[in-house]
Amino acid sequence: MAGAEGGMLGSCSCKIGPSILNADLSNLASEARRLMDCGADYLHLDVMDGHFVPNMTFGHPVVKSLRQHSDAFFDMHMMVNRPEQWIEGMSDARANLFTFHIEATDDVKGCIRKVKEAGMQVGIGLKPKTPVEVVFPYVEDVDMVLVMTVEPGFGGQKFMADMMPKVQALRAKYKSLDIEVDGGVGPSTIDLAAEAGANMIVSGTAVVRSDNPRDVIGQLRGKVDEAIQKANLER
Ligand code: DX5
Ligand code: ZN
Repeated sequence: MAGAEGGMLGSCSCKIGPSILNADLSNLASEARRLMDCGADYLHLDVMDGHFVPNMTFGHPVVKSLRQHSDAFFDMHMMVNRPEQWIEGMSDARANLFTFHIEATDDVKGCIRKVKEAGMQVGIGLKPKTPVEVVFPYVEDVDMVLVMTVEPGFGGQKFMADMMPKVQALRAKYKSLDIEVDGGVGPSTIDLAAEAGANMIVSGTAVVRSDNPRDVIGQLRGKVDEAIQKANLER
């Protein structure tokens, strides 16, 4: 695993990032430690503003506090309107990857530029109803594309298998792009995501609510590594 300040992205290898949304949020530091000790590659931190999604979580002050206790790679999933307003705060909190939603801003290019200028890597996310084509003009400028596999807002929802054509379309066009899936991903749905070409796997309840998170992370990694190897052989 790359340390917090390392460039983890760009290799298109398998990376497993538990989402702490359904973890014990009153003990974030110990939850972060527990998940990283169980073999996670990074932490997926869900920021919600009550406008872009009908739920609220936490913002950069909490991330800054967590940073005092963790050197994990922080993937900020910004489920917020006007993500531009939080770039500086997240950079100051030493977040590594700032993933905003394409639906949340009128100035996608400007937002990408500002995230980079603030020294973070940049991801761009798509809600289920957003067609994949809208992201194509920006793919060369970002480090990662996130394909949501549930409507954003809550953990524990059912995986939308009908999002897999988006992942396939991205993978067909961009062989080495980091493609993340988020929502309802666990041992029973990982095959679909891995075979479609996703390599960054967010898993919330399936990991944090498991009695054996290490085993679940290992299972997810095994399936993704297998799919990557198969795809490389077929190339
Ligand atoms: C949902 C969040 C997800 C969520 C995933 O809006 O973006 O990161 O925590 O949780 P599961 O894996 O339980 O669907
Ligand atoms: Zn998320």
